[in-house]
Amino acid sequence: MAEHIKVLLSEEEVDKRIKEIGEQISKDYAGKQVHLVCVLKGGSFFMCELAKRITIPVSFDFMSVSSYGSETKSSGVVKIVKDLDEPLEGKEVLIIEDIVDSGRTLSYLLEILQNRGPKSLRLCTLLDKPDRRVANVKVDYTGFEIPDEFVVGYGLDYDQRYRNLPYIGVVEFD
Ligand code: IMP
Ligand code: MG
Repeated sequence: MAEHIKVLLSEEEVDKRIKEIGEQISKDYAGKQVHLVCVLKGGSFFMCELAKRITIPVSFDFMSVSSYGSETKSSGVVKIVKDLDEPLEGKEVLIIEDIVDSGRTLSYLLEILQNRGPKSLRLCTLLDKPDRRVANVKVDYTGFEIPDEFVVGYGLDYDQRYRNLPYIGVVEFD
C-alpha cells in the first residue's frame, strides 16, 4: 500500500516551540542543574534540540522501554529494554518523551524513576494526545496538544521509519 505524509506541524513551528520550552525550563530551574532522561528512541531528536536551548547546566542519560511493536496501538505492556547508566539520587530529573498517548508508558516509568530518589521528577513531552489518555499522568511541559491521529517525524516512527523527518506529519494511505 502506498503512503504519503501530510504535514501537521512544520519544522519552523516545532523549532520555535522547542526554543520556548528551553527558555521556560532555564527559568524554572535557574540556579540548578537539570538532568534530562531521554526515552529512546523517539525522544532523542527532541532532547538534542531542547538541550541546545537550555542555558543552565545540563546533564543527560538515556533509557529505552518497549510498549509498541510494529503496531499502531498501545499493548499496555511496558518493559525496560535499556536502563540508565547513572543513578538519579538527589538530581533534578526531567523526563523527555516524544509523545504521551495512553499514558501507560509514562505512568509506569514515573513510578520506577521516583523510587530511585531524585530530588525532583518532572515530565516534558513534545506531543500530547489528551483524548487518548487511559493512565493518569501529570505533564509539566508540553510542546503541542494534537488530535487523535498517528503521527511521525522528529523521532516518532511508523514501523521504524520516518523518525528522521524534521517536522511532524500524519501518515496517509493512498
Ligand atoms: P503510551 O504508553 O500509549 O502513552 O505510548 C507512548 C509511546 O507510544 C510513545 O512513546 C511512542 O513511542 C508511541 N506512540 C504513541 N502514539 C504515537 C504516534 O502517533 N506515532 C508514533 N508513535 C506513537
Ligand atoms: Mg516513546
